[in-house]
Amino acid sequence: MKIGGSEIVVLEDSTALSRRAAEILVRCISETFSRKQQFSIALSGGSTPKALFSLLVEDGSFRNTIPWEKIHFFWGDERHVAPQDEQSNYRMANEIMLAKAHVRTENIHRMPTEQPDAGKVAQDYEQELLKFFQLTTNQLPVFDFNLLGLGPDGHTASLFPGTRAVCEKRRLVVANWVEKFQTHRLTMTAPLLNNADTIVFLVSGEKKAEVLQKVLEGGHQPDLLPAQLIRPTHGRLIWLVDRAAASRLSLSV
Ligand code: 6PG
Repeated sequence: MKIGGSEIVVLEDSTALSRRAAEILVRCISETFSRKQQFSIALSGGSTPKALFSLLVEDGSFRNTIPWEKIHFFWGDERHVAPQDEQSNYRMANEIMLAKAHVRTENIHRMPTEQPDAGKVAQDYEQELLKFFQLTTNQLPVFDFNLLGLGPDGHTASLFPGTRAVCEKRRLVVANWVEKFQTHRLTMTAPLLNNADTIVFLVSGEKKAEVLQKVLEGGHQPDLLPAQLIRPTHGRLIWLVDRAAASRLSLSV
């Protein structure tokens, strides 16, 4: 099913959602390696991707297919906590997937959130991106794959409604003050997130049904629904949603 330029795929449940996401990722990796020998992916945090990360290393049909040594892992957003903090998106992905797949340290590009100055974390991560992609300032990295989630308030990455990062058009990564959490969140900005070759949203559960319907079928109001900022500049956007999350879509199958 297509809405705008994006493709919406409705899966029976969260298990099917994770499996389809794994299949799409493996296919993207394979297609990418027909033209280059490196793959860059920006991971999302939160709880939804946990099942996907686990499947990628527990299911041999994925684990043994993925050339882990050629994959470079980044994060689309991160909490301003130490890497060993239980809130850390890096810690979650590392424990569930990266450590089990024995991914080399040089392939893991976490945000240096142990630094007390969140603005410096963002600046340092931008420099890491420019170095990895061999770019100069003002050039936008092109991620091969960008995994995103959807919060019940319409946020994605750490682009929260009414926050400054929603309007950022120049920077790659910013420290975004989130009033309701009374903390900074580190986040890639919409221009960078949109510049990926493949962008996949993973949305699961009844609790996301209302916001998903607003994001996909409601009026365009990205300041209130920042997930609506995600419009690929050149790549493809796939919404992978389960039936529970899709239950309020007028086009749900
Ligand atoms: C984070 C995420 C965030 C997440 C959504 C959905 O740091 O929390 O990157 O953007 O994707 O909040 O989270 P759930 O999957 O837990 O619902």
